This record gives sequence, structure tokens and C-alpha cells, in this order.
Amino acid sequence: MKARTLGKDLTVAAVGLGCMGFSHAYGAATEKSEAVEAIQKAFEIGYTFFDTAESYLGTNTDGSISYNEELVGEALSPYRNKVQLATKFGVRHDNRNILTDSRPETIRSSVEGSLRRLHTDYIDLYYQHRIDPSVPAEEVAGVMADLIREGKITHWGISEANEDYLRKAHAVCPVTAIQNRYSMMYRDYERLFPVLEELGVGFVAFSPMANGFLTGKYTADSKFTQDDYRSAMPQFTADAMQKNQELLALLYGLAESKNATPAQISLAWMLCGKSYIVPIPGTRKISRLTENAGAADIELTADEVRMLNKALDGMELSGVFGGSPMAKK
Ligand SMILES: NC(=O)c1ccc[n+]([C@@H]2O[C@H](COP(=O)([O-])OP(=O)(O)OC[C@H]3O[C@@H](n4cnc5c(N)ncnc54)[C@H](OP(=O)(O)O)[C@@H]3O)[C@@H](O)[C@H]2O)c1
Repeated sequence: MKARTLGKDLTVAAVGLGCMGFSHAYGAATEKSEAVEAIQKAFEIGYTFFDTAESYLGTNTDGSISYNEELVGEALSPYRNKVQLATKFGVRHDNRNILTDSRPETIRSSVEGSLRRLHTDYIDLYYQHRIDPSVPAEEVAGVMADLIREGKITHWGISEANEDYLRKAHAVCPVTAIQNRYSMMYRDYERLFPVLEELGVGFVAFSPMANGFLTGKYTADSKFTQDDYRSAMPQFTADAMQKNQELLALLYGLAESKNATPAQISLAWMLCGKSYIVPIPGTRKISRLTENAGAADIELTADEVRMLNKALDGMELSGVFGGSPMAKK
């Protein structure tokens, strides 16, 4: 797969693999051996950049906890020096609420747990999963600088970063990438593009296919189990399906002319839009890994990207999932 550089010097495959779904947010956890097989298959296909988090936990069919980092660590330990592992600290999930904790002592204990579960002695990209309003950016960045000095992490990033926080953090310890929600249905963070360009910070796009909606494979009849977050996401309601037909028609139209799929066009749109964007689509299915990776080879011209942006600007779309609520401290 083609490569991209995040920040100054973190080279990754242009499309990463979001591993969250193997154990978190999309229903029952995938059986361990199946998840390990899928992640190893992804490596064989050309994925090198794998995304997980300390807080991605699920329940196995036998009732035990599925630690997402363990799946990733076990699958990739034979290839450790050929892959880039990204994980996150600073969040716990309480039902569907997010609790933040980025106190230095919490980060210190989190990093040790992540290193152990990932079967490694360094993390390539360590993100603060959510800003903790009770810990200043400078203090978190100071801990990151220490961890880099100690060799426990090589780069760091911020998930759901805003401009003010990013600037303060970056001044203390250079940030390699932000990881924010970004898709054709969620474009709010385009306002950060000038800041990222000024600071030389990469943009890892999470939920890049609007949780799968942009693949065009879901219909008003698609059913999700209660423990699958999509059962409550606004873009998957019958009304939304109807409202978003224009967007799907746009994707199908361009996909046909490019000999591609809607999923690939939705990813190619951001890859061809900015050279510092790296999407991390998630899938638990081996059959979809090649399709998603193929987005890296789709060439959209600057005119085509402009045409898509203009069409999106003028489109009335349904609501789209914007994240779990943050619990008040
Ligand atoms: N930093 C954060 O706070 C944060 C939040 C959310 C996610 N993330 C990261 O971003 C990654 C991706 O986000 P996401 O999983 O929420 O959303 P996404 O990548 O936009 O969509 C994933 C969904 O699309 C389906 N899918 C994937 N490829 C498909 C294809 N080719 N055809 C049809 N369906 C397809 C998957 O189902 P199947 O598994 O059944 O294929 C899955 O349900 C996560 O894995 C996680 O690592 C980070």
C-alpha cells in the first residue's frame, strides 16, 4: 500500500485499520482467533497502521472481557517492527458515557498496561483519547515528552482535538497527529486544516465511512442488535436512509466511473483532498479489508474533489453520530 507521513516522521500505510469493532461498539466481540486471523490478514494485504485503545473493551460469548489491545498485540507481535501501533489513554466507558482521566499518574499506569497487552516495549503513536478538562494541555504534553525520552512511546497525538488545546500541547511536545471524526457526513474539523498545515500535524480520520453508512451496503431494513451502537445512530434510521439517497447516488455514480466502490470513493475523497490525512476504516470482515485498502489506489483529481465538496456543501443530509456523551466531572 502507498505510504504517508504523519507529522515530521511517522510513516504509515495510507489507509490504517481501525480495530475497535473487534471488541467494542459494534455488538458482541469477535471470537479471539477470528480477530487475530483478520488482523494478520490485514498485514498481509499491506496494512501497517493499526488503531486500538485502552478503553476498547467488549464481552466474549463466554462472558469474559475482550481487551482490544490484546487482540492487536497477539496478532502483530510476529511483525512488530514492520507495523505502527497506535493506542489511546485517558478514557473509560461507563455504559455509553465517556469518563476522562488524564492525570499524570493515570497516564503512567495506562501506558504500562497498554505496553503489556500490546506485547511490545514501545508504542508508535499514543493518543490522549479525549481532552480532560481538569488537566491542562501543557501537563499532558509534559508527560508525553517524558514517555518519549524513556522510549515507551515514539510519537503522540490527541483525539477530538480543538485548536486551542492543540496549540498549547504542541508548544510543549510536538504533536504528530490528531485523531478526529471525519467523513463526508461529518466535516466539522475541516476548520482545523489551516492549523494542521501551519504546525505540520497529521490528521487521522476516525469513523471515515460514517460508521459504515457511506459503503452503501446498509438499507432501511438493516437490523442492528441493541449492543451495536448503530442501532441508535441517526444516519441508520429509515428516515435518514431516505434523506441521504442523494449522497449515496453521488457515491455510486463516481464509483462506477472509477471502477471503484462507494466505500472506496468515500475514503479516496479525503485521501486525495489532503496529503496529511490517513483514514482508519474499521471492519471485522476479511472480505472487506481489500476493498477498503484499495481506496489508497483510487486517484481523484483536484476537480473531482472540488466537485464532491461543492455537492456536499449543497446537500441536506440526515444527522450523523457525533460520539458518546462525556460524563460531567
Ligand atoms: N478516537 C476515537 O474516539 C474513535 C472513535 C471511534 C472510532 N475510532 C477508531 O476509528 C476506527 C473506525 O471507525 P468506525 O469503526 O467507528 O467507523 P467506520 O470505519 O466509518 O465504519 C465501520 C463500520 O463499517 C462497516 N464496514 C467497514 N468496511 C465496510 C465495507 N467495505 N462494506 C460494508 N461495510 C463496511 C463495519 O462493519 P463490519 O465490521 O461488519 O465490516 C463497521 O461497522 C475504529 O475502529 C477505531 O479504531 C476512534
